[in-house]
Amino acid sequence: MSKPASRILPPTDAAIAEAAALLGAGALVALPTETVYGLAGDATSDLAVAAIFAAKERPQFNPLIAHYPSAGEAARDVTFDEKASELARRFWPGPLTLVLPRRADCRVSLLASAGLDSQAVRVPRHEVAQRLLAKFGKPLAAPSANRSGRISPTQPSHVAEELGERVALILDGGPCKIGIESTVVALLGGGPLLLRPGAVTEEEIEAAIGPIAHAGEGGQPRGPGMLASHYAPDLPLRLDARELREGEALLGFGPLTIGEAKLAINLSPRGDLEEAAAQLFAALRRLDRQGRKQGLTGIAAMPIPERGLGRAINDRLRRAAAPRSGR
Ligand code: TXA
Ligand code: MG
Repeated sequence: MSKPASRILPPTDAAIAEAAALLGAGALVALPTETVYGLAGDATSDLAVAAIFAAKERPQFNPLIAHYPSAGEAARDVTFDEKASELARRFWPGPLTLVLPRRADCRVSLLASAGLDSQAVRVPRHEVAQRLLAKFGKPLAAPSANRSGRISPTQPSHVAEELGERVALILDGGPCKIGIESTVVALLGGGPLLLRPGAVTEEEIEAAIGPIAHAGEGGQPRGPGMLASHYAPDLPLRLDARELREGEALLGFGPLTIGEAKLAINLSPRGDLEEAAAQLFAALRRLDRQGRKQGLTGIAAMPIPERGLGRAINDRLRRAAAPRSGR
């Protein structure tokens, strides 16, 4: 883990102006969004985008999301069909990312789209992200501000732990309200495709535009970022635990428990999925760090219902539990 040597500033106008100036000079800034913290750089600059990949140690084939202050600004770089327009109208600003065809004159660096002819775009709702986008005046490429394959940050201190001096400045927006990444939907002509379940639920998307296919299922293509192992803590994670085993920390959900753990966090004692999503990444981080300190050997996660936000939570838990590839 790199040393937390980062500068964390409250989001005053002066701090936003400094962040915009740093971005203009090609540096990287961590910014709060309603989902998770992002590691932002000038999306139009090959150098800044390359610096994002380097800071995260992210494979270059996994493309980045470009962030905009409005759908109108995004429409300068990508084309919206009818369904994309409807999703943007309903869910922006908010936790939805659309993967759309790049325009011939797209300003976003081709490195950000990993050379693909599609570009992921999002209009975040968070007030600090909006102010920075307005001040900077150009799209910001921003993946989650964690090192590749690790747990996404939902608090400024998480970003400092993950990236240390690799980020010039962290704007402090407090804990992220939603706590789980945006839903990623591709609309590239062949019918809508869900690339990543997230904060906007599948039920909400289908209510807006009708049925959506799942990437990687039933012959549908997989997304470039669908590496099986992701969001990984160091301690092994056991899913759908119905009983606690010796040496395990407990990730609980709902009013019941499955045993007396030495270390336990309940994501939502009242069984509320939104509350659970908001706690998830911070809880995994804490169980992992404390558990290792206390000599525990694993984390047992109680079952979470596979509906609404529960699908996004389970997706992250499954990745966190997946066998590690070359880490
Ligand atoms: O909530 C979020 O989306 C956060 C905040 C900071 O906006 N960002 C985030 O970025 O989670 P990242 O890079 O960690 O995840 C972006 C996902 C990846 O799974 C990536 O593979 C996918 O979006 N993606 C990006 N561009 C794509 C493209 N052109 N085609 C298919 N998938 C794409
Ligand atoms: Mg990420």
